[in-house]
Amino acid sequence: MATLMRYEEYADFDWNNLGFGLTRTDFMYKAKCTLNNTFEQGQVTDYGNVELSPAAGVLNYGQGIFEGTKAFRGEDGRILLFRPDQNAIRMQTGADRMCMQSPSIEQFVDAVKQTTIANKRWIPPPGKGSLYLRPLLIGTGPTLGVSPAPEYTFLVYASPVGNYFKEGTAPLNLYVNNEFHRATRGGAGGVKSITNYAPVMKAILRAKEQGFSDVVYLDSVHKKYIEEVSSCNIFLVKGNVISTPATVGTILEGITRKSIIDLARDLGYKVEERLVAVDELMEADEVFTTGTAVSVATVGSVTYNGQRVEYKMGDELVSQKLYKTLVGIQVGKIEDKYNWVVEI
Ligand code: COI
Repeated sequence: MATLMRYEEYADFDWNNLGFGLTRTDFMYKAKCTLNNTFEQGQVTDYGNVELSPAAGVLNYGQGIFEGTKAFRGEDGRILLFRPDQNAIRMQTGADRMCMQSPSIEQFVDAVKQTTIANKRWIPPPGKGSLYLRPLLIGTGPTLGVSPAPEYTFLVYASPVGNYFKEGTAPLNLYVNNEFHRATRGGAGGVKSITNYAPVMKAILRAKEQGFSDVVYLDSVHKKYIEEVSSCNIFLVKGNVISTPATVGTILEGITRKSIIDLARDLGYKVEERLVAVDELMEADEVFTTGTAVSVATVGSVTYNGQRVEYKMGDELVSQKLYKTLVGIQVGKIEDKYNWVVEI
């Protein structure tokens, strides 16, 4: 059980230097269930380590998926979540792909709300960042053969965060990697499986050693079409048209991605979801990436096959217009005509 105590409004913390590192917060949510059953009613407990069997499905066979969502503190003091139901639905899709039990949409959203409220003092002041919630679903039961684990644990923990990239809000320099691929058709690239992330670390580290911010992956069949960046989706702008790779099973169905598509259409842009060739990326007027952690990040340059293109910068960028609109809705400054924001 959680140690219940009264906390001050804000944790004693330097809110001015938030990046995307883990800060230990006070509480987490935990619920369990056995294979083919529904999850027990979960509980908020003190934040701490999780005890696992050495034969746990997640440790041996990577049976695990996660989500990411954010809580914002509005200037009027309201605490706002952004589309947590969409994370719940995506967790269910991922759980089905990975043969796992998943919590109901109601339980998922309730768990995110409870974790946020319990860690309220860790929600940064307005304009300083957000509280990142990490729902995690893992096979915790032991299994020696390759088969679904007999027990699952659903956890939600939280950390205050600022900008995802060390560049802050400065434009990113991306590297198109043609050696490593993030996902293949028929694989699990379209769901938020934990197995999608360790394989891209080598590509990220190599790119960072050369001064790049992150990596753009190409499709593994033609090695010609862009897919996504390690932790975010990618968009390009050419004239009044915004294009992004269609989600064909190898690309994560980002919640920020689909929100940005709606916002861009409402702002008058034509948005196309389709195969996008790397050559088009090199000829774009503007490029940006989207994700829960990343929000909307402007790309300053892309390097591919030894060629570097630099995109126009300035005050009138499409990415900045979309960023301001998205964040304005998330923090309650811009009217939420979409009903995306959930006040808790
Ligand atoms: C998110 O945007 O929430 C993500 O899951 C990215 C994460 C890999 C840092």
